[in-house]
Amino acid sequence: MRALLCTEPGPVSNLRVVELPDPVAREGEVLVRVLAAGLNYPDGLMVQGKYQVRPPLPFVPGMELAGVVEAVGAGVDGFAPGDTVMASTTTGAFAERCAVPAAQVLHRPASLPADLAAASLLSYGTTLHALEDRARLRPGETLLVLGAGGGVGTAAVGIGKLLGAKVVAAASSPERLDLCRRLGADFTIDYAAEDLKERVKALTQGRGVDVVYDPVGGALSEAALRATAWSGRFLVIGFASGEIPRIPLNLVLLGARSILGVFWGDWSRREPRKSADELSRVAAWICEKRLSPVVTARLDLAAVPAALEDLLARRVHGKLVVLPGGP
Ligand SMILES: NC(=O)c1ccc[n+]([C@@H]2O[C@H](COP(=O)([O-])OP(=O)(O)OC[C@H]3O[C@@H](n4cnc5c(N)ncnc54)[C@H](OP(=O)(O)O)[C@@H]3O)[C@@H](O)[C@H]2O)c1
Repeated sequence: MRALLCTEPGPVSNLRVVELPDPVAREGEVLVRVLAAGLNYPDGLMVQGKYQVRPPLPFVPGMELAGVVEAVGAGVDGFAPGDTVMASTTTGAFAERCAVPAAQVLHRPASLPADLAAASLLSYGTTLHALEDRARLRPGETLLVLGAGGGVGTAAVGIGKLLGAKVVAAASSPERLDLCRRLGADFTIDYAAEDLKERVKALTQGRGVDVVYDPVGGALSEAALRATAWSGRFLVIGFASGEIPRIPLNLVLLGARSILGVFWGDWSRREPRKSADELSRVAAWICEKRLSPVVTARLDLAAVPAALEDLLARRVHGKLVVLPGGP
C-alpha cells in the first residue's frame, strides 16, 4: 500500500510516500481501507519529535480517518467487512490501509461523507468534551474562541452556537473572521489589529466572557484570562503559537476563575463509552447539517508534507483532508 513514512524526527518536508506491506488485523483490531484522513497541528509536531506522544520509528503519521472495513481480527464483535467506519488512531491514518484497535472505531452513518467524518473526529470531539464536560457551558453564556479560524477553532464556533452560547470569534485576519461569521459567530475580534481584552470588555459591557477556548497560547492567553468574567472558565486546549504561557495566579483568585486542562486523546481512552457517545452526537449533527466542518482542501498523500508545513506556519484555515486512495 502507499503510505507516508516518518523515518526520523525532523522537518515535515522529510516525509516520503513509500510502498509498505498491507497491515493485517491482529487480535482486537479492525483493518480499514482509508478513504479520508484529517490533518492536524499535532501531526506536524509529532513528525518533528515535539509532541507529547513519540511513536517508535519508523511510523506513519495521521490521527483520524474514515473508511470501510476490509477485515476484522480475532475477538472483534460489532464490525464486519464492508461496514462504513471512522476512527481516531494516534498514528497510521496517512496510508491506504490502517489497522485500528476496535475500541477506537465507530460506525459511520451512511449519510456522513468520509471527508467530513475524517475532518471532524479530533476537532469536534475535543471541542464537545471541552465545552460540555469541562467548562459546562450553558445556553446564554458568552464564549470567546481564540484561533477561531483553525481546526479546533472553527469547531468551537460551531459547537458553541449549537449549545446556545453567544460566540465571540477571535483570529488574526479578516478572511478567518469572515469564515467564523459564516459559521454563526455573533462577534469577531481581529487580534492582529485590535486589543483583545479591551474589545472583549467593550462587547460584554465590561463584564467579560464566561468561557475562553484557547488553542493558541502565548501572550493572548493572559489577555483572554483578564477578559474573563467573575466565575469564568478558561479552557487550555493547545499552544499553536509555540509558546506555553506562564499565568499569574492572582488573576485566577481575583475573578474566582477556573483554568481547566483538556486532553481529549487521553480522556477518550479513559472514557471510551462517553467519548463514542459524544462522537456519535457530532456525526448526527453533521448529518442534520447543524454543524458544518470546514474542509478547505482535499489532498493526495504526496501533498501532505507541504500542507503540514503550511499548517505549522499559520497559513491554513479550516481543515485539510487527505484522500489516500485518490479522489
Ligand atoms: N487538548 C486537546 O485535546 C487538543 C486536541 C486537538 C488539538 N489540540 C491543539 O490545539 C492547537 C490547534 O490545533 P489545530 O489542529 O486546530 O491547528 P490549526 O488548524 O493550525 O489552528 C491553530 C490556530 O492557531 C493560531 N496561531 C497563532 N499563532 C500560530 C502560529 N505561530 N502557528 C500556527 N498557528 C498559530 C492560528 O490562528 P490565527 O492566525 O488566527 O491566530 C491557527 O488558525 C494545537 O496546539 C493542537 O495541539 C489540542
